[in-house]
Order: sequence, then C-alpha cells, then structure tokens
Amino acid sequence: MTQRILILGAAGQIGTELVESLHGQGNTVLATDIKQPSDVNFPTDYEIVDVLDRDRLHSVIAKFKPDVVYHMAAILSATAEKIPLKAWEINMQGLINVLELARKFEFKLFWPSSIAIFGPTTPKDNTPQHTIVEPLTIYGISKYAGERFIDYYKHRYGLDIRSLRYPGLISWKAMPGGGTTDYAVEIFYEAIKNKRYVCYLSSDRTLPMMYMDDAIRGTIELMNAPKDSMKEASYNFAAISFSPEELSQEIKKHIPDFEITYDPDERDELAAQWPRSIDDSAARKDWNWQHRYDLSKLVEIMLSQIAKKLEKST
Ligand code: SER
Repeated sequence: MTQRILILGAAGQIGTELVESLHGQGNTVLATDIKQPSDVNFPTDYEIVDVLDRDRLHSVIAKFKPDVVYHMAAILSATAEKIPLKAWEINMQGLINVLELARKFEFKLFWPSSIAIFGPTTPKDNTPQHTIVEPLTIYGISKYAGERFIDYYKHRYGLDIRSLRYPGLISWKAMPGGGTTDYAVEIFYEAIKNKRYVCYLSSDRTLPMMYMDDAIRGTIELMNAPKDSMKEASYNFAAISFSPEELSQEIKKHIPDFEITYDPDERDELAAQWPRSIDDSAARKDWNWQHRYDLSKLVEIMLSQIAKKLEKST
C-alpha cells in the first residue's frame, strides 16, 4: 500500500536517503527541512519547515495530510555540546510539537533515538535493551527524554509511534553533521583524496556502527511491522562495532599507503561514555531485524562510491 509520507529534517544524512527509498517504493513523499539544501536534489516536493514553528508545521500537516511522519530534525551530539540549551529546545520542543500534531491528525510517527542515551554507568559491551541509563551529554539526555515522551504519548493517547536507537551511521550520499561518529565517514574522503587522516577519536575507541542501507531498510521494516509486535518504546539497533584503528586497517587493504594519526579532542570524551557494542536481540525477535553489511563490505562500497562521487565533482 502506498502512503503519504512527510519527512522533517529531510536534508540530513538519514533524511536524504529515507526520501529516496520511500519515494522509490511509490509513496507520495513531501521532504522538508529548515533551509534549502545546496547539495541535495530531492526527487519529491520540497518545503521549508522549522520544527519549532508550530503554526507552519500545523499548516503543512493539515494540507499534506500524511499517513506517516518521519521526524528526523535534530542537533547531533558534538554540536549540541556547543549550544546545549538551544539543542534541548530543538530536540525536545521540536518533538513535542510533532507529538501534539500526531494527536490531532493521527498519523503514524517515526522518531530516532540513539546509542547516546547510554552513559558512563551503562555496561559497555553487548549493552542490553533495558539497563542503566544515565546520559551525561545534552544530546543523550534529550534522546532519552524523547523516548519517555513518545512512550507517554503512545500509552496516554494510543498513538502509533516507533523508534530506533541508531548507532553511528556510515553513508556516502549526504554528509553527517555535528555527530561524534562522523569520523567513520570523513575518513573515507580523506583516504581517497590525501591518503591520510587525523582522527579526533582515540585509536581504540570502539563504537557501534551501521551502513546506511541497513539503517534505512531496518527503519522501513520497523514502520511496516505489525503494531502488536512493537514491544519496546525504542529498540536497540545494531550491526557491527569497530575502532578507528580497525577501520583504518580495513581501508589499508585497499589503499596500502593510507596513514592514520590520532589527535583526540572533546568528541573522544563523548564517545568514551557510549557502548562499545549493543545487544539488539529484542529487535531481532520482535520484528525480525537482520543486518547485511559487515566491515569489509562496508569499506569496499564506501571507497568505490566516494571515489566515483569525487571523480564526478572534479
Ligand atoms: N551519530 C550520532 C552522533 O554522533 C549518535 O546518535 O551524534
């Protein structure tokens, strides 16, 4: 069944690819973001929407009448630390504005959470679905508060809201912006262009990661799963885990003279608070989640796609 789908934050790393996939499946998609993107050409209608502008959000939704909304607009972890109160406002008030409209217009909603909800007191390996959650970053606090909010709206108002705790996402179409895990995308551009990369995380800073095709397919599968199989407010969602050193070793198999050096900055302190790996057995059991990309496949695709992209742009 094709649907009317509104994407908020469509110009970001995930939004761009969600628009493409959902449009490709024959849905009527309206892409929106806070400004006109300079580097993305949407295959769908596009409108400017600021999630903090309640009136504008209301009128776009009243007019488009979406069956489903993907609310992807947020400030990521590293940027949020620079503007904590503004990031809180965008991440939380933006979500509350969308939740209130979900009550009124009764659309199905997707909202992304993150591995950043976990904090220094959380077990770091195979982090369970239910565990100690004491985030110390403003991004993590906003994502965990968001999880509680969506669960509240689900129970209090009977809405259909689904959510995933994304790991670091690796993709070549749109750049990530302001995250702690962005190194795992930047490294490929630098490896191809300059054969060297100065990494802002420590060499052994292992984090959970996922190739974007897995993330997009998983997100759409979650949204299409039967409502009564949804047992968790937001699902742990995992594929692979690696450190910068392990990633660089894999890149060296293709570019033998690639060199990585390490100059950890404040982002390394954020990453140090997060899990090294995630137990996503609830997602695998409840809606049959399975990842397809391992580290070697991901590196092969990233290197070849980014090389092609850079060639085209020169
Ligand atoms: N990738 C995100 C970040 O680094 C985590 O959700 O901020």
